[in-house]
Amino acid sequence: MATDRASNGMMRRAVTLLAIMSSAIFIAFFSWQGASAQHSSQQAPRPMADKPMADKSDAIEFTEEFMNNEENFELGKAIWKKRCQFCHGKRAYPGKAPKLKPKRYKPEFVYKRVTNGFKGMPGWKHEFNQQERMAVTAFIMHRRFSP
Ligand code: HEC
Repeated sequence: MATDRASNGMMRRAVTLLAIMSSAIFIAFFSWQGASAQHSSQQAPRPMADKPMADKSDAIEFTEEFMNNEENFELGKAIWKKRCQFCHGKRAYPGKAPKLKPKRYKPEFVYKRVTNGFKGMPGWKHEFNQQERMAVTAFIMHRRFSP
């Protein structure tokens, strides 16, 4: 009888322990799932994200990799054709805007002009997000750039 009670007690402890452990795993699993679901919804695939990204200019870095990236080049080219060529392009009305001289620029300068504008040059931060403005900068600075 004594051994019976003892093993009964052990059994109960084992069951309790198992219950605690499985609920811990259960909770851990679901909080992990929740976190990763949140994570993926924040980073929903949106290549040309229409929500403007943070505009902390000091966080902007024009790495060589970024400047040579083919997707950035193509995106920048599309923006150029749509919004810049009209004033800066080779067929633009003479005197409308200066001919761009990328060799004289630093990407940060181009980015700043594109973002904020300057005199007759409109700013584009309300139309193009940071990535897009960076891409058009990469396009202008690229060796294959042609107005
Ligand atoms: C409405 C005509 C117009 C459009 C559209 C326009 N620009 Fe300009 N841009 C100008 C004018 C005018 C200037 C010269 C401003 C000044 O320095 O007085 C200029 C200046 C610049 C400069 C500086 C050039 C320098 O040597 O100082 C850059 C870079 C530039 N634009 C890039 C762009 C890009 C990229 C786009 C398209 C997103 C664009 N511009 C669209 C008119 C335009």
